Amino acid sequence: MPGPDGGYIMSIASVYDGGSLRLDGKLTYDFLSPTDIDELQIRLNEVADMLHGRTGAGSECLGWLEPSRLVGSAETVRLKKAASRLKEETDCLVVIGIGGSYLGTAAVFEAICPDGVNPNILQYAGTNMSARYHTDLLASLENRRYGLNIISKSGTTTEPGIAFRLLRKELERRIGHELAGAQIVATTDHAKGALRKLADTEGWVSFDVPDDVGGRYSVLTPVGLFPLAYAGIDIDALVTGAIEASIACREKSPNRNPALMYAAMRHLLYKSGLQIEMLVSFEPRFAQLIEWWKQLFGESEGKDNTGLFPAGAIYSRDLHSIGQWVQDGPRILFETFLSVESGEPSLKVPSMGEGPCPDELDYLEGREFYEINQDAREATRVAHAEGRCPNIGLYMPKLDAHNLGVLIYTFEYACAISGYLNEINPFNQPGVEVYKHKMFELLGKPDNVH
Ligand code: PA5
Repeated sequence: MPGPDGGYIMSIASVYDGGSLRLDGKLTYDFLSPTDIDELQIRLNEVADMLHGRTGAGSECLGWLEPSRLVGSAETVRLKKAASRLKEETDCLVVIGIGGSYLGTAAVFEAICPDGVNPNILQYAGTNMSARYHTDLLASLENRRYGLNIISKSGTTTEPGIAFRLLRKELERRIGHELAGAQIVATTDHAKGALRKLADTEGWVSFDVPDDVGGRYSVLTPVGLFPLAYAGIDIDALVTGAIEASIACREKSPNRNPALMYAAMRHLLYKSGLQIEMLVSFEPRFAQLIEWWKQLFGESEGKDNTGLFPAGAIYSRDLHSIGQWVQDGPRILFETFLSVESGEPSLKVPSMGEGPCPDELDYLEGREFYEINQDAREATRVAHAEGRCPNIGLYMPKLDAHNLGVLIYTFEYACAISGYLNEINPFNQPGVEVYKHKMFELLGKPDNVH
């Protein structure tokens, strides 16, 4: 239906049992219309059928489609027990992994770190080979009892491999080989790779990365669930949210399926000539989630000379840096605004006492911070849309484990659909191998080591 300024209101609410995600497309204005979505519907349903029928490229990697298989499984029970035992014996856990092996954990933990849990309970390694970073990390662990969770599906990735070697050696130096072994958990392939061989030889507690789940789709497997359980996240609620979203994603009409609608909108915006999608939020707790989303979409879609470039920003901070570019630079991008609708703590702008205060902020006195933040967000959405940077709104009802599970699954599903709409395999990453080969040549890696 026509909306203000000749645009279209497409506010879609899809309520799952106990959770919901609202998608608002009204600020895509004349870049796309409900008619475009209708015209895409047949193709959308074809690719959804390919996904569910497991007939598309990469169909051997669809284990994430059914998160219900995790519920009450013996593996989940073992995982929770191992996490609580390790938590008793240590002060923090170093999560060692790169890409999909750690980004989901960081995203969830940063977004919903429970009250009273030390944000430093999870440390990260394996994403870089900086001498300074590792020296500082070792120093920060000096007086802390630490556990290690080494995560690598292939079991051979260089960056986490050498970080693990360093941290394990230090742990063994401190407490001896045997006690150190009790504080190491390996998450890797059930049979293949150097890490599996090492874990079995050393007798470490280990968990399998399912064969049919790739790194960037693995946060709801032991890859993410073990460190998140250690950090006190309600992993059952996370998985339940994903299950509910998986049921909602079976809905064929994009008007009742936010994942399909999101995939459709971003595809149409891409086809209209836009090249960049920015996931932005006025909630700084989403900084790592934006990193996870960038990896999910970037590694899945950017191939065969196609795909939107995924970028991200935290506002208001970045309105005072790249905000200028978004408002006024080349018109090659659109934004997706991720927001939370309720559950914010009450915090009011204080009164500074009798008489006007020279800071010129008295007009905000008594107003809630979250309301001011919401107004800033809605104003920015309109300003950017008027500057011909269309935007989609994604609204979570509340920031908790359940709703994060809904969001994660919705993005994963939309990413798979988007890849199939672009006729690529969203589950491989052949381009990542190129830098590895060059690096191995320079490092002199022997040919027989994979
Ligand atoms: O999404 C992916 O598959 C990748 O980002 C991997 O997670 C990343 O390359 C790490 O690989 P591995 O777990 O084999 O060490």
